[in-house]
Amino acid sequence: MSKQGPGLFIAFEGGDGAGKSTQAARLGEALEARGFTVLRTREPGGTPIGEKLRSLVLDHGHGHIDARTEALIFAASRAALAAQVIRPALDRGDIVLTDRYIDSSVAYQGAGRGLGQDAVRSLNEWATSDLQPHLTVLLDVDPAVGRQRRAAGDAAEDRLESEADEFHGRIRDAFLELAAARPDSYLVLPAHLPVESLAAQILGRVDSLLVAQEAESVGTAPSVGASGGGNA
Ligand code: TYD
Repeated sequence: MSKQGPGLFIAFEGGDGAGKSTQAARLGEALEARGFTVLRTREPGGTPIGEKLRSLVLDHGHGHIDARTEALIFAASRAALAAQVIRPALDRGDIVLTDRYIDSSVAYQGAGRGLGQDAVRSLNEWATSDLQPHLTVLLDVDPAVGRQRRAAGDAAEDRLESEADEFHGRIRDAFLELAAARPDSYLVLPAHLPVESLAAQILGRVDSLLVAQEAESVGTAPSVGASGGGNA
């Protein structure tokens, strides 16, 4: 991991329909209620150029996009987000919550599109100057269940979501392998659990991280700052 500021960086990952946005919002609200400054963002997107790249890569109607082009667009959007939004927020000591990060490219483009996980990881580590999350929350969802959940919502399926369940199965396996390889940096939860139960487990893990970070910072630089009265 390259040098990064005193804040805390948490990524939410998982297949489409896993409920990442709901959980990121819940965690953000809980931390803000305690006085932490929280920055929530999403990928692709999160910057003006990133939002343009988002519609280029997700909307139907741009003709065929080959796998390498797709990987580079996601990486370009991520480069902008890391440099312009995430790093500055961590430098200020904020808590950054992102809906998807590098693991999404490793899983979707590396495993799903078959570009190779190592190649896609290297590309993205270069793009972000190796900015890595302290914790990745993986909401594990069965592809068929994810599809049902998406069908129940109002939004039309984007280019990636409309791929076959088999494609989404490769992505699910890749996410689980990434988490199994570095268990200390992941919290893996079954996405079908009740929203409240997921939110409580995620907050519990983040609390432990904040306590550990606080202990590490005693006597050194200030760590994740609670702007109000709250502390973990
Ligand atoms: P997401 O924003 O999570 O979808 P939604 O807003 O509809 O819930 O992600 C959009 C799609 O982009 C999703 O199918 C996953 C895909 N994706 C990749 O293939 N690679 C990436 O690096 C990222 C960030 C997303």
